[in-house]
Amino acid sequence: MISKNIEKALQQQIALEAYSSAFYLSMASWMDAEGFEGTAAFLYTQSDEERMHMLKIFHFINDNDGQAVVPSTEAPPKKFKDYHTCFLNVLSQEQAVTASIHELVNQAVKEKDHAAHNFLQWYVSEQMEEEKQVKTILNKLKIIGNDGSGLFLLDNELGKMALNAGKEEGTA
Ligand code: FEO
Repeated sequence: MISKNIEKALQQQIALEAYSSAFYLSMASWMDAEGFEGTAAFLYTQSDEERMHMLKIFHFINDNDGQAVVPSTEAPPKKFKDYHTCFLNVLSQEQAVTASIHELVNQAVKEKDHAAHNFLQWYVSEQMEEEKQVKTILNKLKIIGNDGSGLFLLDNELGKMALNAGKEEGTA
């Protein structure tokens, strides 16, 4: 049985994951329009992953006698300054998600909710992976600078990553 406090906090996390999904979907669309097909594919995959993160919490609440609610999400931006700015935005968003997950873990400890604590450990690891991934991309962007051929290669690389992620999930 989930406590009302934990349910409320998890519900806020659902809204955050839903916004991440919408945010990355919007960035994917912008990348597509700018001709970065590989990066668009990567961000479409990231958007799907965020929806999966949201759904996992949804099921956890409902499997523990709560009732998850579909959040209303604010519309994400449609336009982005440039390629580099998109990934700075991704990093800020992921850092906000990590902070929120850590706060949830603190709350689970405080309330001695072992089920929620155990459930949240998956998110702690996932956030480390996600932050590492976007920092790697930002480091590559630092090397590339304004070099168009460098961006072309990175776009190809991110496209391949999306394809491999799809193969693992059986969707490509
Ligand atoms: Fe679900 Fe990338 O945070």
